[in-house]
Amino acid sequence: MDKLIITGGVPLNGEIRISGAKNAALPILAATLLTGDKVVIGNIPHLHDITTTMELLGRMGVELMVDERMRIEVNAGSIREMFAPYELVKTMRASILVLGPLLARHGRAEVSLPGGCAIGSRPVNLHLQGLAAMGAELRVENGYVHAAAPGRLKGARLNMDMVTVTGTKNLMMAATLAEGRTVIHNAAREPEVSDLANCLISMGACIEGAGTDTIIVEGVKELHGTDYSILPDRIETGTYLVAAAITGGRVKLKSTRPELLGAVLAKLTEAGAEVTQGEDWVMLDTGGRRIKAVDVHTSPYPGFPTDMQAQFTAMNCVSRGTAAITENVFENRFMHVLELRRLGADVRLEGNTAITTGVPRLTGAPVMATDLRASASLVLAGLVAEGETHVERIYHIDRGYETIEEKLSQLGAQIRRVPS
Ligand code: UD1
Repeated sequence: MDKLIITGGVPLNGEIRISGAKNAALPILAATLLTGDKVVIGNIPHLHDITTTMELLGRMGVELMVDERMRIEVNAGSIREMFAPYELVKTMRASILVLGPLLARHGRAEVSLPGGCAIGSRPVNLHLQGLAAMGAELRVENGYVHAAAPGRLKGARLNMDMVTVTGTKNLMMAATLAEGRTVIHNAAREPEVSDLANCLISMGACIEGAGTDTIIVEGVKELHGTDYSILPDRIETGTYLVAAAITGGRVKLKSTRPELLGAVLAKLTEAGAEVTQGEDWVMLDTGGRRIKAVDVHTSPYPGFPTDMQAQFTAMNCVSRGTAAITENVFENRFMHVLELRRLGADVRLEGNTAITTGVPRLTGAPVMATDLRASASLVLAGLVAEGETHVERIYHIDRGYETIEEKLSQLGAQIRRVPS
C-alpha cells in the first residue's frame, strides 16, 4: 500500500489542468447500459473508481476500450449478466447506479447492497422506493437487491424524502426507457446530475428540468449511441484552490468551470483570497497573506458541498481566528478531525460542528486517510505542516484525485509517493 510523504512550507505557485468529474463519469458509464449501441465518453478521469466501474461492466460482458487520452468506447450490446457482485460494490458505493439502467433495459438485475461506509450509514432506500413506484418488483435477500420489471417500467410521480444525488441519477436513468412520464420532485440539482441528463439527451432521452428540483422524463422505447465529454471536476478544482489558499500561494486552474463553484469561491473570497475567473479557468492569489477562518454550513447544491467540508476544516486550522464548520449532509463526516489534531490543530467537535481556532503552524506527523475527501484534507494540512507528514492508506485518494502528487509537484509542493 502506498503512502504520500509531504514536506510542508512551500507556497504553491503555477498552473495545472483539472480532470473530468468523477461523480459525472460514474453515472455516465452506467448509462451506457441503456443502449446496445456504441457510446464514446471523453474527458474521463484516470481514477481507481473508474477502473472499478470498468471492471464491473466488463464482468457483465460489456465491451470496453480505452485509448491513451482516456476516451472510453463502451458497447453494452454484448451484455450477458445483469449482476453486480459484493466484492466490487463494497469498494465503490456508486456501483448501485447500474440498478436503474439494467432494470429499465433488461427488466432484471441483481445488485449487491453497498453496506455502511466511513462517513455514515448511506442507505439506498430512496433508490429502491422510486423503482418500486415505477412498477419494479424488489426483494432484498442475502445482501443483494433482486429486481425484476415484468414488461417495461412505468412512469411515476416520485416525491423524494431527501435530496439524494445518486438516487436522482439512478431514477432518472430508469425513467428514460419507462412507459410514460416520470416526475422526480425534490430532485438533486448537482451539476453532475445535469451532465448525466445532457448525456442521456444526446442518446435520445427526453428530459426536462435537470439542474432544478423537478425533473420530468418522458420515457422513450430505446436510446442510441453518442459521443460525450464529461464536465470538469468542481471538487478537484476546489481542493487545489484550497491548496493555494492554505499555503499562501497563487495558482491558476485550467479546463474547469468556475461557475459551478459559487458557494466555494464566495467562502474563499470571504477568507481574504483574491479569486479571479474566466469561462474555463479560475485563479486564486493570497498575496502572501495568511487567510481568515470562515464559517461553513454544508448543504445540497447550490449550497456549500459536503465534498469540500474536510478541505475547509484543514484550511481553518491554520487560518486567523475561530470558526465553525457544520456538516448537514452526512452524519459522520469528521474522521479527519482527530488526524488533524495529530498535526497540532486546535479543533474540537460539538455534534455535527467542527470548531477550529487557527494556529500559526502545524507540525508533520504520520496520519491515516479514512475516506476520499478526508484524505485530501490531510494532504492539504501536510502542505503547511513543518517537517514531514506521512499520509497512509492513500488508496482513498486514488479513488477520486487523478495523480495528485504529480499535480501538486507541478505547483512546487514537495510531495512523493512511496510504498509503505
Ligand atoms: C453523492 C456523491 C458524493 C457526495 C454526495 C453528497 C457520487 C458518486 N457521490 O453521494 O461525492 O458527497 O452525493 O453531495 O455522486 N440518503 C438516504 N437514502 C437514500 C439515499 C441517500 O437516506 O436512498 C441520505 C444519505 O445517507 C445522505 C444524504 O441522503 O445522508 C445524501 O446522500 P446522497 O446525495 O445520496 O449521496 P450519494 O449520492 O451517495
